[in-house]
Amino acid sequence: MPQLTEVAEFTKLPEGKLSAVFPKGLPVLLIRRGAEVYALENRCAHMGCPLSAGRLEGYALQCPCHDWRFDIRTGRFLDAKELGIKTYPAEIIEDKVFLRLP
Ligand code: FES
Repeated sequence: MPQLTEVAEFTKLPEGKLSAVFPKGLPVLLIRRGAEVYALENRCAHMGCPLSAGRLEGYALQCPCHDWRFDIRTGRFLDAKELGIKTYPAEIIEDKVFLRLP
C-alpha cells in the first residue's frame, strides 16, 4: 500500500526547475508547474541517466544523454507511448509536498 511521504516545501520549489530528491532512497525528480507538482522517477527508461540534468520545454522533459523526451504529466516516452518512466502522485498539504511511494 503506497504511503504518503513528505519530500519538499512547496513554496521552496522553484517554478519549472528540475529538483532531485531521494525519499526512502528512491531517485525522484520534482517539477513545479504553477499550482501543480509532478514527481517522476529520476532515471531515464533508456539507459538510466539522471533526468534531473535534462532540459524541460513545456511539459516535455529531454534526457541529457541521448535526447529521449518524456511527458512529465504521465511519464510516457513521447516517441513510443508504450515506454515510460514511473510517476508518483503528489499532494500539497499546508505548503508541504507529499508523494505516494510504494
Ligand atoms: S539514457 Fe536517456 S536517452 Fe539514453
